Amino acid sequence: MRSTSSGKKKSARPAARSAKAATKKAAAKKTANKKTASKKSVAKKTVAKKAAPPARKAAVTKKKAASSRSQAAAPRTAKKINKEYLLQDLFFNELKDVYWAEKHLTKVLPKMEKAATSDKLKKAFATHLQQTMGQIKRLEQAFEMLGEKAQAKKCDAMAGITREGDEIISDTKKGTETRDVGLILAAQKVEHYEIATYGSLVTIAHTINKRDVANLLAQTLKEEKETDALLTELATSGVNEDATGETEDNTEKESEGIMASIGEMLQ
Ligand SMILES: [Fe+2]
Repeated sequence: MRSTSSGKKKSARPAARSAKAATKKAAAKKTANKKTASKKSVAKKTVAKKAAPPARKAAVTKKKAASSRSQAAAPRTAKKINKEYLLQDLFFNELKDVYWAEKHLTKVLPKMEKAATSDKLKKAFATHLQQTMGQIKRLEQAFEMLGEKAQAKKCDAMAGITREGDEIISDTKKGTETRDVGLILAAQKVEHYEIATYGSLVTIAHTINKRDVANLLAQTLKEEKETDALLTELATSGVNEDATGETEDNTEKESEGIMASIGEMLQ
């Protein structure tokens, strides 16, 4: 019996030990699982943290882009304003320049009229002189509209073109069609310069919202174009053709003939 009970006792202890061991094992497993879970959660958090910077980066980049956009927008606005002021200055300077040019032409046109051979060309210069006086008044009106005093600034280009006209007069014979061809050439250089100037001024006046000034200058532009067309018409309707037959000899003989007939008339 003893032996049996002790045997029973003996067999019960290992069972209890194994139960204890199982419990310990289970506890250990639980702890291990917990640790793994906690590790996993830490890892997840780390991943999340690691993932966060790009998100933050994107936000920062967006912020920076927005800020750089606003920074870029600010100078653009300033630039636009400055541009408008500079453009206004440029416009005034060009008005002064063309004002000088027109005033200068009132001295040049009578010389051209006097030097011209054909009556038609003389008339064209006389008509354009009257137009030029009106154009000066328009420019003075434009200065007034802009709240500025009319001022003339020497236009080197116009001074140069008209100097060329003077050379044509001195290099050609009086009373010849060749001189008229030269005068038409010089006058068309003047007109083309004026067309370019007024064309640009009209465009700038629209850009700076001075429509009344633009309309005024557009009238002058139209006149310059008409004068240029008239000069082309004169050149193509006979002046150039007549000049092709002129030589030193025949023009001299012709002037001698004219002088002789004047002499006869006077006798
Ligand atoms: Fe003019």
